[in-house]
Amino acid sequence: MADEPQTEADREQYTHGYGAASQYMATRSAGRQAAFFLPYMKAGMSLLDCGCGPGTITLGLAEAVAPGEVVGIDIGPSEVERAIAFASEQGVANARFEVANSYQLPFPDSAFDAVFAHTLLEHLTDPDTALAEMHRVLRPGGVIGVRDSDLGGLVINPHDETILEFFKVREQVWRSNGGNSRLGRQLAAMLRVAGFKRVQATASYDIYGNYENAETIREVGNIGEFFARYAESPQFTERAQEQGYADAETIGSFAKALRSWGNHPDSLWASSNFEAVGWKE
Ligand SMILES: C[S@@+](CC[C@H](N)C(=O)[O-])C[C@H]1O[C@@H](n2cnc3c(N)ncnc32)[C@H](O)[C@@H]1O
Repeated sequence: MADEPQTEADREQYTHGYGAASQYMATRSAGRQAAFFLPYMKAGMSLLDCGCGPGTITLGLAEAVAPGEVVGIDIGPSEVERAIAFASEQGVANARFEVANSYQLPFPDSAFDAVFAHTLLEHLTDPDTALAEMHRVLRPGGVIGVRDSDLGGLVINPHDETILEFFKVREQVWRSNGGNSRLGRQLAAMLRVAGFKRVQATASYDIYGNYENAETIREVGNIGEFFARYAESPQFTERAQEQGYADAETIGSFAKALRSWGNHPDSLWASSNFEAVGWKE
């Protein structure tokens, strides 16, 4: 789960990394994660997806605005490659992807009818600058939709103190990397400050677990296995230890507890998210 070098964003570390996390992101879809934004999509719109990751949400948005063109940008070259491969596999002709930094979007002013960002701002040290860029590239009358986690509302089942301790340390590591795992609640306020009008705020849960209707972590096993791999990765263990968030023994106990929890037939991880929609006037 090695991190890629991050050109202009060297000051930040992307908490999730580009290994199992990319496979996890690839389970996402516009129908679920962009449901709040789909009602504003119209055929023929041009759309920019910032921090598109492996692009599965982007491709759903492309379908919604076809024949309009969708551009997905991400700072991780491997994510852009994955997105290009998915688009080609699915024969989506109206989506293209490129490596770019959300702090300096390589597009002229007023270039897009819509801008979208899913779980990007929560990883940025300076999300306001990224929002200012999104505002710049949106045309007057254009719409923005953003969605981010707020782990203040995290729910797990069955209850397990070690698992809760793991999620506490994970949030500390996330913050020490420059991000904010509780950014969701601030999204609507941030859109207003960035100059967007008629701002709307909503919230929703993503549910992962061993149930028929829950999202499963295809390719990377169940949710416990996914987090166990992260709990074992140097990007987590080294940072947690170096910052003194937990002792080595506690950190070492997380992976086993996560696997055992994830294998429980009723394991459920419910991640709270906030969404905000606004318009440029
Ligand atoms: C949690 S992932 C979300 C991916 C995708 N939006 C999704 O939800 O499936 C966050 C993505 O933001 C990208 N990212 C981080 N900092 C960035 C920046 N400054 N500019 C553009 N992308 C960035 C990461 O490379 C990663 O792919």
